[in-house]
Amino acid sequence: MEKFRIHGGRRLEGTVRVSGAKNAALPAMAAALLTSEPVHLRNVPRVRDIVTMGKLLAHMEAQVEMSPATPDAVSIRAERVSHAEAPYELVKTMRASVLTLGPLVARTGYARVSLPGGCAIGARPIDLHIQALEKLGAEISTEHGYVEARAQRLRGARLLFDKITVTGTENAMMAAALAEGESLLENAAREPEISDLAALLNAMGARVEGAGTSTVRIRGVPALHGATHTIIPDRIEAGTLLVAGAITGGELLLTHCEPAHLTAVIEKLEQSGIVIRAEAKGLRVHNGGPLAAVDVTTEEYPGFATDMQAQYMALMTQAAGTSVITETIFENRFLHAQEMVRMGGQIVVEGRRAVVRGPARLSGASVQASDLRASASLVLAALVAEGETIIDRVYHLDRGYERLEQKLGALGARIERVN
Ligand code: EPZ
Repeated sequence: MEKFRIHGGRRLEGTVRVSGAKNAALPAMAAALLTSEPVHLRNVPRVRDIVTMGKLLAHMEAQVEMSPATPDAVSIRAERVSHAEAPYELVKTMRASVLTLGPLVARTGYARVSLPGGCAIGARPIDLHIQALEKLGAEISTEHGYVEARAQRLRGARLLFDKITVTGTENAMMAAALAEGESLLENAAREPEISDLAALLNAMGARVEGAGTSTVRIRGVPALHGATHTIIPDRIEAGTLLVAGAITGGELLLTHCEPAHLTAVIEKLEQSGIVIRAEAKGLRVHNGGPLAAVDVTTEEYPGFATDMQAQYMALMTQAAGTSVITETIFENRFLHAQEMVRMGGQIVVEGRRAVVRGPARLSGASVQASDLRASASLVLAALVAEGETIIDRVYHLDRGYERLEQKLGALGARIERVN
């Protein structure tokens, strides 16, 4: 089991490049199933989830090319999809496999995808995905831990989501792109990753309007063609790096990021006293003095991202005063809190709220990562903790961060990957 060994106390300084967004690349790869022609993606992060999605598409007999020569490029050609199945062995390692459900049933009329099961941060059902596909005319059955979907041809429909769901919206968009007639998605997710998927689908010949707003209109077409598309920057990695610069009292310049995707996060960081400035080459961050505690409530985009909650909690352990962090999206997304308490953090969790008192002097300890963003928050805490921290199970981190220890090491952190 690989671990990180981190010695805290170093200010991070320098320039760091933000990678492409994992949560935009995953639906983009699944969208390649919608056409028999090649889809070329650029600015794809080389992280574990991307490799898993590549394996899944290859399992479906799509040709997947990830050449080491161009590490940010992925090309996929699903000339024919003879095996429209996403097996449990692969889905259990990555719930985003459910993104193949819509494209498979739209392209082939059949799909058999393992139910993802829950994960550390919550039950994470896919009932809204299934309801959307049924509204589009798919016959769905769920048994033996699998979802089976069948359809002669999907028919456009009006879909109103009971709850805002990012991958649910993406599944419905991809299925509706090949449905007969027009679909209207209401209460759709508005994340930048949704807009990025719409840009790819339209480049493939789809007719998607309104992505990024709560109402998305899709006019189905008989077939889609290949396309080349550059994935948007990863707003969560960018937010994580902003916190890394601030929590260590350093100064960083983030390149290849999109500040417009981080408005709510930047707003909160500035309120706590961090100076963030958009420059020609990117986003510059440094501390403007002691940090002040500021409350945060996670919300769907454009609100404060739940994927930044754990990282923000690490920062608030260093802020003067009491901050209340409220998690409204997932039911169990405070697993990082107890690990930070073991490092000296003053954090009390009460249901959906965590109360953080600071500034607390953190000391290095052996801690355990539980999920992708919790691992990132433990890295941030370790960067400012006194002494050595060992973070176990960094495979969680590798799912969504590309070479994080190399990026942080190049900025002055004392961090190494050990077995
Ligand atoms: C996406 O997950 C992201 N993953 C998550 O990022 C992110 O945390 C989440 O959106 C929220 O922003 C990808 O894009 C691959 P949801 P997703 O459906 O789509 C409930 C990371 O760190 N819900 O928007 O699975 C659900 O339980 C990951 O990169 C239903 O009840 O999230 C949750 O409470 C973690 N029924 C809420 O909606 C459904 O059918 C939002 O979930 C679907 C969702």
